[in-house]
Formats: sequence, C-alpha cells, structure tokens
Amino acid sequence: MNIAQKLPNAAAGARTGKKSKRIDIDLSTTKPGTPGGAFMRQFWIAVGRSMDLPMGRAKPIKIMSEEFTLYRGASGKARCIDHRCPHRWAQMHLGWVEGDDIRCVYHGWKFDSVGQCVEQPAEEAGFARKVKIGTYPCDEYLGLIWVYFGEGDAPAFPPFPSRETPGVVDVWNVEQVPCNYLQSFENSMDEVHVAFTHAPGGSHAKLSQDLPIISTEETDWGMLRFGKRKTGLVRQTLHYAPNVTRVIVPPLAGMNGVGGWPEIYFSFTPVDDENHLWLIAGHVEVEGEELHAYRAQRAVYEKEIANARPSVDVAKELMEGAGYYADVRHPDLAIVQDIAVQAGQGRVADREHEHLGRSDAGIIGWRKILTRELKAIAEGRKPKKWKQPPADVKPTLGF
Ligand code: FES
Ligand SMILES: [Fe+2]
Repeated sequence: MNIAQKLPNAAAGARTGKKSKRIDIDLSTTKPGTPGGAFMRQFWIAVGRSMDLPMGRAKPIKIMSEEFTLYRGASGKARCIDHRCPHRWAQMHLGWVEGDDIRCVYHGWKFDSVGQCVEQPAEEAGFARKVKIGTYPCDEYLGLIWVYFGEGDAPAFPPFPSRETPGVVDVWNVEQVPCNYLQSFENSMDEVHVAFTHAPGGSHAKLSQDLPIISTEETDWGMLRFGKRKTGLVRQTLHYAPNVTRVIVPPLAGMNGVGGWPEIYFSFTPVDDENHLWLIAGHVEVEGEELHAYRAQRAVYEKEIANARPSVDVAKELMEGAGYYADVRHPDLAIVQDIAVQAGQGRVADREHEHLGRSDAGIIGWRKILTRELKAIAEGRKPKKWKQPPADVKPTLGF
C-alpha cells in the first residue's frame, strides 16, 4: 500500500497557497518488507516496561506488525524470541520458563537462551540440534526493554545517553494509542500545539506565553529542534532516530507540580500501522527531602490513576463527541489531550491534504529525512549510517 505523501518542502506551498508535488513513499508503515519497516529495524526499539516482565514469566508482544515472545529467565535477563514454536506453531508465551530456557506448552520442546532446541521429550536423540527458534538481541535501559529486530549486529547499547545529574527515573503509564506512530512522533516535533491543546488545565502555561519560531537541524543521530522565543531564549529538543523524543516537559496534572519538570525519553513504538505504544521514562531531578515529597505525591498520583478511567477511553469519548474537551479533568490530563488530538487525526493521518505552515518546521524537517531514507532503501541505495548520540547534546527549557 502506498500513501501519497507531500514532499517535505510543503511549507513553501502552504505560504503561497500552491499544492505541493507528491511522491509515492509510505512514510507511516513499519511492516516488515517495506522501506519504512527496514528503516526502523536499523535501531533498538523500546518494546515495554521492565516492571511488566517479572522473572519466570513470558508474554506476547506485537511490534511493527510482527509478533514475538518476551520472557525473563532466572538470571534476570530479559529475552526476546519468536512468537511461535518451530515444531507446530504453538504460542511460546504459554510455555514455562526454566532457568534461562523456555519450554513450549504443546509438546514440551525446550529452547535455550540462544534459541537452540535442547530437549524434545517425544523425539529421537539428534533431532533437537537441527531445530532453532529465532532470537533477537534484548537489553534494558531507563526502565524499558529494548529489542533489535534488524539484520546483522545490533548497534551500540544503550541507544542514546541519559541525564547524569542526580535524581530518579520513573516510567510512566503505558498507553496504546489508536493511530499510526508517526502522528505522535510528529506531534512531539510540534511545539506550537501546546499553547492550544494543553490550554485546558493550564499545564503548559509557561510554554504558551508566546509562540516559538521553530527551526531544525539534522544530526548524525537524528534531529535537533529549536523553539526560539521573543526573549531570545531557545528551547532545544532532541529527536533520536527513529522514534524517540528527549524533551523537558511539565509534570503530569496528578503530580501537582511536585518534582518539577521531568526530562522525558519518549518512545513512540509501532504495534502495527494503526496502533502504537507510548513508552516514557522520565528523569526527575530530586534528592533528599525533595525526593521524599516527590515519592509521597507519586503515591497519591498512582492511587488517583488507579481509580481514574483509562486515558485512551476518555480520549476516545472526546473523539466521538461525548463530553467537552475543555471540561475534562484527569491525573494524566495532558496525555488524554494529546491522544484525543493525535488519534483524532485518523488511524493513519491524511498527509496528502494538509496545509503545512511555518510552525510545522519540525514535522517538515523530519519528513524530509524520513522521505530521503525510505527512498534510498526503496531504490536499493545505501541509507545513512547513523551514529551514537553524544552525551553533551541535551534538551533545554527555553524560558
Ligand atoms: S508446538 Fe511446540 S512443542 Fe510442539
Ligand atoms: Fe502535547
């Protein structure tokens, strides 16, 4: 399926009212065998929270339209293998974790941590060594599990540096957002939306005193985005290829401002082309007494969240016209607001009929990079060689 996309120079077209030239590259798909799928599979991808994979358990995951099994063995290491057993395709997560191995529940075949079949209770000796299950490099960082689904050796791990200042890292609630991942990744490049989308509740008031002028710069590892204010101050945000945004954001409504503004590492992970996960690790710079206050408020927030309706459900109601956007109150209000707006663009946003303007410079910048890369892959040319992001490029607040 090809979705016609506007060329990323659409801003010029929007200013002059002219329609932009179109090309046939599907920027949004990450299915295997597509240029978008090949692009994504060059990188480590966050697939879930470490805390949701207890020792001795296995669970199914769906990432970029493919299914896999995650399990955590006795050594504590998380592992990722194929979804189905190579014998007769039973689902591997139904089985037993034994040490660092996993045994299929259907006929008891056991696979070791590198995927080698090591036991087949009802078969003749010698057969097991001819059978393997697919395994994928898997590691953990910032409270998240990361998997490399690509060919050859995985890039260096961790995929990007984190803040070195004191503090704690908390992983936020996981949201499964009913739209394509690129809509949300693009939204993270759209600093102007915060003054409108997050006006109810006032969480982003400090960022809404004036509207920034946006510019971007491609880097060896992704894209830097700048939002310049009237004061001359610049808010700098990092977009790590292919789908992570590192940015300083206001605290969630339910945190009541305690802990200040966290620096978040926000992964927009495709489940399939019409759904994606929000996997967010937030670094909060608190120590000593402040850390106690933060933990206490976090406990209050978590209780509120447990009693609140899921953000996605509230957002869906708003999208359907039930309730009023401006009236909603929720401990994760900004999340509800963002889901309503982004999923409300449709499962896969219509990029052909948009009218991009000056304020969309972040989106235009990333689409330009993505289009170039996907075209190179589609035409059999070498894509860019992405590098490890340096530790000294960090987000700034800009006020
Ligand atoms: S299907 Fe897994 S052992 Fe038979
Ligand atoms: Fe937002």
